[in-house]
Amino acid sequence: MNTIKACIFDLDGVIVDTAVYHYKAWKRLANSLGFDFTEHQNEQLKGVSRVRSLQLILGWGGVTKTEAEQEQLATQKNIWYMEMVNQMKPDEILPGAKEFLTTCRKVGLKTALGSASKNSMTILEKIGITDMFDAVIDGNKVSKAKPDPEVFLAGAQALGVFPEECVVFEDAIAGVEAAVAGDMKVVGIGSPDVLTGANLVIKGLDEMTLDKLYKL
Ligand code: G6P
Ligand code: MG
Repeated sequence: MNTIKACIFDLDGVIVDTAVYHYKAWKRLANSLGFDFTEHQNEQLKGVSRVRSLQLILGWGGVTKTEAEQEQLATQKNIWYMEMVNQMKPDEILPGAKEFLTTCRKVGLKTALGSASKNSMTILEKIGITDMFDAVIDGNKVSKAKPDPEVFLAGAQALGVFPEECVVFEDAIAGVEAAVAGDMKVVGIGSPDVLTGANLVIKGLDEMTLDKLYKL
């Protein structure tokens, strides 16, 4: 029997390709401090909060900074990141994302955003899809970062459904772990080699169908 009542979507790397902008901005910051990090290391930053990401990067570079300096660096990264975000156009929504959201809503499935990003609302407005979500839980509303399930549990609560009735769409290892920890089904967006904990892995929402959703 199908008991799925809601879909909860991560933002960066699922709805929009801002994961690339995060990577570019962090890389620029690391380079300005005299070191670099790999794309493999970057996978560990996906879904991880701004402050925690910075701490990981500084660790990789063997660089120590005071708390005040860290705050400045995180602010600088966000300025560079937002320079790219502010140039985004509605056509930067990832293939199939708008279509799948529309399909969900048409059949009465509830939709929520569950993202660590404090810039979520700005991005949704930029691409013009704010009204496609029944609830938006972002980095301003939660205190525990993925892999803690807080963001997704808050999403389920806001939608008035049980965690077991939710399917999460995630591109990050930490996000897949968070969904599993929250007792939710999870569709990974990316590579099955990376997102090993997901119930199903697809390349993008353009590959998603209701049939696949109800078979999870
Ligand atoms: C998402 C991204 C992370 C990012 C985090 C915080 O989870 O995958 O790469 O660090 O949001 O985003 P913010 O826009 O608040 O810096
Ligand atoms: Mg993501």
